[in-house]
Amino acid sequence: MNAQIPQASTSTPLQQSKFLLVGCRHGSESALEHRQRLTFPSFQKSYWRKGLVTFRIPTHIVSKPEWSVFGVPDNVLEQLVFARIGVRSLGQITGQTEDERIAAALRLLGSLKVDAVHVWKRDPRLQIDTASIQRKIATFDSLQEKRIASEQNLILNCVVDSVDRWWIGWHVGNAQTDQWSGGYYPGQMPPYGISRAWLKLDEAIARFGIQFHSGERVCELGAAPGGACQRLLEANLRVVGVDPATIHPQIAEHEQFTHWKKRARDVRIRDFSGFDWILTDMNIDPTSTMASLERILSSSPHKPRGIIATLKLSDLSHAEELEQWCSSCASWGYQTRVQQLSTGGQEICLVAHKKSTSRN
Ligand SMILES: C[S@@+](CC[C@H](N)C(=O)[O-])C[C@H]1O[C@@H](n2cnc3c(N)ncnc32)[C@H](O)[C@@H]1O
Repeated sequence: MNAQIPQASTSTPLQQSKFLLVGCRHGSESALEHRQRLTFPSFQKSYWRKGLVTFRIPTHIVSKPEWSVFGVPDNVLEQLVFARIGVRSLGQITGQTEDERIAAALRLLGSLKVDAVHVWKRDPRLQIDTASIQRKIATFDSLQEKRIASEQNLILNCVVDSVDRWWIGWHVGNAQTDQWSGGYYPGQMPPYGISRAWLKLDEAIARFGIQFHSGERVCELGAAPGGACQRLLEANLRVVGVDPATIHPQIAEHEQFTHWKKRARDVRIRDFSGFDWILTDMNIDPTSTMASLERILSSSPHKPRGIIATLKLSDLSHAEELEQWCSSCASWGYQTRVQQLSTGGQEICLVAHKKSTSRN
């Protein structure tokens, strides 16, 4: 974020809100809580339902300038890993009808002016028209007329918890991902996409700001049927897919693609040299995926400049091994970021860049 940190004395109702509201994947609540205990032990878990967890933030933390300015500092979501989005809660709205709830939300906001309104659902399966709520809040006159004392891009969040219960919160949107309503990746799977891995990789590229350079060599372990390779080929990369399973003919026949039809462990170590990126998306346990990466990276003199690894959490208790996985990457010379993607399943995406590289 590039915002200036103003004097902490400009305390407003926004800055006084002491609850962090986190949207996460259904089923990831316990893994999220584990990360919170590890990284922000002074936070106290409060209200939670599937896909939504709130934490009370202690005053000595929430009054720090970075919390006042950014609502939720970037590093908080990064450390929580399973947080798709984090907002500062202003409170809960209930009401019999939608109009009553809109009126209650506007009373709560008082004289604040916001730059954008995001309405998103705790549970994407809820049959509720968020576009209508969004229009009614965003077009309300008082919101258009009044400004807050901030130059930041202030985003109002209306979180639809259930048919008659909403949460109102705010965050500051300076990063590209802050513009994604609810933290859900807005990109769409193209009709020609070979598998959902296309969209997952597309989100990872956007979320982590990954920059490939045309002509780079990439190897993906667990490449069939080929959605991620398709996305890589679209970036004009030269791709090797390692997988004993069949690759879709459209990819297999692409002139920039080579299929090594075998398991990762059956590829000779020396054959992995010369790649700029290693991707993994094998449907095996994360310890085995990390062992595959270790085999390639621990001793290689010519390491790839980046790794994009999907670690399948068949059992969410694997999330407790995350620190260890990041330490392994560090020992091979990489800086690591890890997030659960909004388009993926019960898995996390680990992106590592080689330290002290001049590119990317
Ligand atoms: C989720 S799919 C991969 C999807 C793929 N990335 C795509 O873009 O379409 C998992 C793949 O991992 C492969 N796999 C499992 N164990 C493997 C191993 N030891 N070495 C290589 N591939 C493996 C499976 O054959 C399967 O095709």
